[in-house]
Amino acid sequence: MSKQAVLKLDDNEFAFPTIEGVEDEKAVDFRSLRSTTGYVAYDEGYGNTGSCQSEITFIDGEAGILRYRGIPIEQLAEQSDFLESSYMILYGDLPSQSQLHEFRSRVRDNAAVSPLMAEALKGFAADAPPMGVLGSMLGALSCYNPELATNDRAVDLENFDQAAAVAIAQTATAAALAFRSSQGKEGNAPDPSLSFGDNFLHLMFSEKGQPYEAIPEVSRALDLMLLLHADHEQNCSTSTVRMVASGGANLFASVAAGSAALWGPAHGGANMAVIKMLEEIRASGDDGSSFIEEAKSGQSGKRLMGFGHRVYKNFDPRAKIIGKACEELLDKMGIDDPCLDIARNLEQAALADDYFVSRNLYPNVDFYSGIVLRALGIPADMFTVMFAIGRMPGWVANWREIAMNPKMKINRPRQIYQGPALRDYVPMESRG
Ligand code: SDX
Repeated sequence: MSKQAVLKLDDNEFAFPTIEGVEDEKAVDFRSLRSTTGYVAYDEGYGNTGSCQSEITFIDGEAGILRYRGIPIEQLAEQSDFLESSYMILYGDLPSQSQLHEFRSRVRDNAAVSPLMAEALKGFAADAPPMGVLGSMLGALSCYNPELATNDRAVDLENFDQAAAVAIAQTATAAALAFRSSQGKEGNAPDPSLSFGDNFLHLMFSEKGQPYEAIPEVSRALDLMLLLHADHEQNCSTSTVRMVASGGANLFASVAAGSAALWGPAHGGANMAVIKMLEEIRASGDDGSSFIEEAKSGQSGKRLMGFGHRVYKNFDPRAKIIGKACEELLDKMGIDDPCLDIARNLEQAALADDYFVSRNLYPNVDFYSGIVLRALGIPADMFTVMFAIGRMPGWVANWREIAMNPKMKINRPRQIYQGPALRDYVPMESRG
């Protein structure tokens, strides 16, 4: 028998069962709260609310732990790659040789977007925000692959392998096509001989007669960045994917909604905001110390972007891995990026400053990722797009977890109404 939580309300006592996760996370099961007490639980921002039970990713914010399907992110970063980890995130276990070969081939064979989509991509203004274009394209995948987006769960699940490969592969291709279109350049065709990351760099940067050749350090750094972003439990964008999926919507509609949620500066837009912050500090001639004071005072809404996290109250394990990869990459490439020096100053200062330490504000995944992406030649306005390319496997896996749950109900939170009390309609002639 699970432990019980007893709630005392208006001289009554109500008992609720509890739920324990495999890593000892604990929850009070409030699914009968309203029907037994008439009350709803109020938790603006959902910081204390478990929206689901999931088998995909585990995070321990206090201990700085992140595991995909039980395997620590540090081991995956060292020994796996983006597509192998993506397979495991999607299907639950590390693939056999043949399973991985089949998955890589399926992603590779679905890298080309529909010619109609390629044409549609040319219709955006050159200065269209890349995340706006990406979100439009992800939703449009249901238009170019209607057989994979029927909103009939059984059919959509039957076609899941194909839809997943299309989503993962064509997010990258559409992003590169949009980038080249914004530059007034023709798109490149996917090169099936290249790895996922190298093909993306080829799609982005190859020119006629001058195929882009990635040096091994660049290939490794990009693949690592994508792997580290592949999933992250119930973050804002993934929860959005689950919200949309709970209504029975197809995979493409659900991940399109997730990409919209990722766009904000408090979430996936932070990597771009970090570079903007570092550039502003550099241009001002400040070494970061006066910026830190501004971020602490909250003046003009300034925050130390790339710092803080709703869950991690310790180092984000991804930040440590990216920070190390950043130093190695810039060293190997002989890049002396002054923003890296400023980032180091900010990190050292913040980690010794009680304002940040007392609020458990540590570097998160975004603090160094912008510097790595810039070293790879990715333009800053595409940094959040890179996050979306990396996060796609996690979004797709969460869609599948919802779709495969026969007992899944549509997500429908309640609210506490604080608007005007009952009143009558006032005809126009009687209004003031
Ligand atoms: C991602 O959820 C995920 O898993 C997300 C993600 C993923 O992989 O999907 O990990 C990716 O989104 C990482 C986070 C990227 N965002 C940023 O780096 C933006 C800067 N960070 C903050 O805006 C903030 O830390 C959040 C949004 C990340 C978390 O905010 P919380 O948990 O809601 O914290 P809060 O806003 O309630 O702040 C608590 C206190 C406040 O001060 P007091 O009111 O106590 O005086 O900490 C302060 C805040 O002002 N604070 C900061 C700060 N972050 C919080 N002060 C200065 N700089 C910051 N970055």
